Amino acid sequence: MANVTFSSPVMSRDVTVYAVAGDRGTLLGLAKAHNIPLPHDCQDGDCGSCLVEVVHLAGRVRNGVAMTEKEKELLRQLGKITREEIMDAEVNDMPPRHRLACQCFVRDEDILVRFEGDMTLPAQGPALSIAAAVYKGGVRVKTMDEFLGYAVQVEEDAAIHFEELAAAMQAAGNADVATLFGQLAGYSRLHLAEAQAKCTRNAVTPKLPPKSAWPENATPEKTTLWAGDARLTRLGALKAALQGERRGYEFYFAVAGTAKDAEIRAVAKEFVREEAEHVEKLKQWIEQEEAALRNEVTA
Ligand code: FES
Repeated sequence: MANVTFSSPVMSRDVTVYAVAGDRGTLLGLAKAHNIPLPHDCQDGDCGSCLVEVVHLAGRVRNGVAMTEKEKELLRQLGKITREEIMDAEVNDMPPRHRLACQCFVRDEDILVRFEGDMTLPAQGPALSIAAAVYKGGVRVKTMDEFLGYAVQVEEDAAIHFEELAAAMQAAGNADVATLFGQLAGYSRLHLAEAQAKCTRNAVTPKLPPKSAWPENATPEKTTLWAGDARLTRLGALKAALQGERRGYEFYFAVAGTAKDAEIRAVAKEFVREEAEHVEKLKQWIEQEEAALRNEVTA
């Protein structure tokens, strides 16, 4: 039995798990089995995304280090193993400091495994709701033009919906909220322009998906923009917009986590970061609105 402790800046605390040595499991397999967010991609020693630092808690002990040529070569290319460490591993069975988790088998010894985490994602993204699972299951993105088609449609639908809501509020005499929805429509148009710019950068003609591709036939940022009530306050409007942005975040998060193509995952992560910023911005506005309302009450 071995204690394996995982430690990373992307985890709120270190996590120790018990591993049965000899069952030929890798460190990556162990991490996945315990939902440790250890980055990985190829799972075959080719990409380097599962790089970890391994600290042997009983000191530098001889322990039958088995490193494939592939692992040694990739670590060397990454500048994470020295010639001396390679020699030490080959001749003296001394483990090097860095390993690829997908290539490193669990041994009968206690170790500390440190990793950086996926720095391409926000360290602390918005909490995921049930919508993430819905979009994960409902949308299968296979090509870049398909994915960017989804993205363009998400942003375009949000803009159109905000514009419709602004017009409805204006007609109902709620000028304050109409102005706010107009502003949000403007921001959605900017997000749409960013999505279209990504199409240009990736030399892609977006392929718009049919409405039936979406759960309940509605794009994520539109689904919860239920704010058609003429008595809606600015605070209510902001909260409705926040729900939409959260769903947008969850859609991109699901694609980033499930798409098989590495380039699609990379572009989806760009959207994840942007949507996380939109969510944060709306949360700030909501706090400001609530503070203003509290001040009005106490004035
Ligand atoms: S996941 Fe690619 S090298 Fe380990």
